[in-house]
Amino acid sequence: APNIDVAAVQAHLTQLNTLATQNGGNRRAGSAGYTASVAYIKGKLQAAGFTVSEQTCTTCNYRSNNLIADWPGGDTSRTVMFGAHLDSVSAGPGINDNGSGSAVLLQNALALASANPALTKHVRFAWWTDEESGLLGSRFYVNQLTSAQRSAISGYYNFDMVGSRNGGYFINNITTATAAPLKAYWDSLGLSPEENTEGVGRSDDYSFKNAGIPTSGYATGASARKTSAQASKWGGTANAAYDSCYHSSCDTTSNINATALDRAADGVAYAIWNQAVSTPGTGC
Ligand code: PHE
Ligand code: ZN
Ligand code: ZN
Ligand code: ZN
Repeated sequence: APNIDVAAVQAHLTQLNTLATQNGGNRRAGSAGYTASVAYIKGKLQAAGFTVSEQTCTTCNYRSNNLIADWPGGDTSRTVMFGAHLDSVSAGPGINDNGSGSAVLLQNALALASANPALTKHVRFAWWTDEESGLLGSRFYVNQLTSAQRSAISGYYNFDMVGSRNGGYFINNITTATAAPLKAYWDSLGLSPEENTEGVGRSDDYSFKNAGIPTSGYATGASARKTSAQASKWGGTANAAYDSCYHSSCDTTSNINATALDRAADGVAYAIWNQAVSTPGTGC
């Protein structure tokens, strides 16, 4: 798997921050800042050769679009999905929540296009709208799938807050086969990742889990506090929130831990190659 350049991920975050600043300070679903965020990501994906579509979420609180990108190739009856919500809350630009997951997926999509490896499974990326009103964009997407389309999705990987400044290393459903590549990569860095207990039922993986689709994902933590045991193994500040700017105006490009962001980005590449590339060890 390729190493993902964290500077490229951070450049996407700078763009998302600018789009918020130019549009009233946030990227809330249905806002101009959200529409501009979709256009930014869509443009990069189209230029790289993805098949991109916007899906209007008609059941959302704020009517707005999901963005879906398919990389041509692989067996579409075995599709692996990687998703992140692109909307912020109205309080601020939402750079850790969830520019971070959105930018990590964008740079991984560009890396897949540039490496263009032979694929076994089909790879699809998604950027969800209106997560912040209750996981609404992803729920709309899952609900409109036929049962055949649903069973063609062999796994869904979610990325919501992966650059928390005082973060930890959390994996959803860490003991499952779906989580195995995400865990193997962080294990290889000696990080001793833990189950994502804080995030259960709180992000878009829940929409897929409810449809019986296996899910996993990375997270580095929201408003819960780092324990002293976690500070001992991961560094950072014990008894302080993983992200002290959660849902606040200070969730800007300054609110990013570049080391955690890079570790998430590289682990996503590892998982894509492990799940979908014919010869994962030799890709790139
Ligand atoms: N889904 C939450 C949000 O977007 C973020 C979150 C993720 C909170 C994981 C806790 C755990 O606000
Ligand atoms: Zn990297
Ligand atoms: Zn949020
Ligand atoms: Zn979030």
